[in-house]
Amino acid sequence: KFNGQLVVVSNRGACTFRETSQGVKGIPSVSGLVSALEPVVAREGGVWVAWGGRFGNEGDETGISCPLPEGDPKYVFQEVMLAPREVDLYYNGFANSCLWPLCHNFIEKSVFEEQYWQAYCQVNEKYARVILKTTKPQDFIWIHDYHLAKVPSYIRRFRTRARISLFWHIPFPPAEIFAVMPWAKEYISDMLDAELVGFHTQNYAQNFLQAAEEIAGAKVDYVSGTIYRERKRTKVVALPIGINWREFESLAGSAEVMQRAAQIRRSVGGDYMLVGVDRLDYTKGILERLQALAWLYKNYPQYRDKLTFVQIAVPSRTDTYAYQELRRKIEETVGRINGDFTENYHVPVRYLFKSLSKEELVAHYLAADMALVTPVKDGLNLVAKEYVVTNANNTGVLLLSPFAGAAQQLKEALQANPFSPRETAEQIIAGLEMPDAEKKRRLKALNNIVRNQDIDWWWEQLRLNWLGDVLQSRYVS
Ligand code: UDP
Ligand code: G6P
Repeated sequence: KFNGQLVVVSNRGACTFRETSQGVKGIPSVSGLVSALEPVVAREGGVWVAWGGRFGNEGDETGISCPLPEGDPKYVFQEVMLAPREVDLYYNGFANSCLWPLCHNFIEKSVFEEQYWQAYCQVNEKYARVILKTTKPQDFIWIHDYHLAKVPSYIRRFRTRARISLFWHIPFPPAEIFAVMPWAKEYISDMLDAELVGFHTQNYAQNFLQAAEEIAGAKVDYVSGTIYRERKRTKVVALPIGINWREFESLAGSAEVMQRAAQIRRSVGGDYMLVGVDRLDYTKGILERLQALAWLYKNYPQYRDKLTFVQIAVPSRTDTYAYQELRRKIEETVGRINGDFTENYHVPVRYLFKSLSKEELVAHYLAADMALVTPVKDGLNLVAKEYVVTNANNTGVLLLSPFAGAAQQLKEALQANPFSPRETAEQIIAGLEMPDAEKKRRLKALNNIVRNQDIDWWWEQLRLNWLGDVLQSRYVS
């Protein structure tokens, strides 16, 4: 058990605030990080420090503090205020135009701007000040993701013995790629001010250990996953985040959701419905997936009036050029495929640019014969896990990219290289033609993993590592 309270720190919190004519309104955030962390914070209680999506004035730091969820409060949400310039340079700039592409194999998209870096440092320092102001020395500070990796070091300047852990939710690239970033040495060194650093896969953890050795000059024990620097140690763990599967199981069993699924299926028509659910992001492989479908409709014309692909694309980072450009290309491609392959007035691709409620989402998972989870690179991917649980009693098929972190766990999914339209199309056909008994066997095996390594398992493992013996002595004599 913790002897202080849990302080979760992330850029995006459970809800994103919008100023409306009736005052401030919170809308649920769409993010794997939020989906996974919310049940943990709701159970443990404590504080969640995050930017609420609102803009403050230059110099504003601490925003509103309110109990959440509304009506049944379990924890306190502590807002951090960011000025428009800070959001632009730190969030759109350093986090999403430098680190995000760098960590997802899009090195050519990474922008290395000194002013982005300066703003990143300033905002990380601001977060640290809000944390120091609103928490106690014995609290457990749990920082999340690439937006806030310098926070551990800013906190330690004032609380040298603070308990700090950092979880990295996206891929961590090979050291030689990370080293390209001009501020890589300071960045990695500051991450080492956390006593425990977590990643979704062994690969990412190994890459980080190597970066600590080669870029930050630390001493590394690869066997135990320990990094030694300036007589302090940092433990590195690989723990794939899990889902709260009971919530999905119960939604999938509800009469309303089942009726809605049947309704979706009827309105889509044809014999087969495939679904893709992603934030509209170039890492998710949406464009490549559409190209695979075009290949399929071209080379297997018998499927043209039988198979519908439904893409739910959740608006994301819409102020950033790369995302605006991708949206344009996706919409153009959907239009072209429908123009080329509509037969008997059956529309092959349905495209929604919006986010869905949990009920609507689960209804789509249930209605679909197959989920196409084919990112070109993804830290983990929770949609794959949610689809598997939702369809536990059906005959759904999961097609998964080997480049999603979840592929390390979900070995019984069909796999296809998203960069090959032919391979992806062939695997889609293989999935559709698979005997029901085989579909069920795979779903059962996948469900075992998703249910055993769920969010409770993940949190328990992480907590044990954080409180474990090794960390009781962070200082090496
Ligand atoms: N999601 C949602 N509404 C939608 C689409 C997705 O709430 O309309 C949720 C979905 O249930 C999942 C999360 O968004 O938990 C996406 O997480 P994932 O790990 O797949 O990707 P990320 O967006 O974090 O990169
Ligand atoms: C990924 C990141 C999260 C982020 C989410 C949505 O899952 O790991 O930290 O919250 O994408 O992106 P956004 O920029 O809208 O927060």
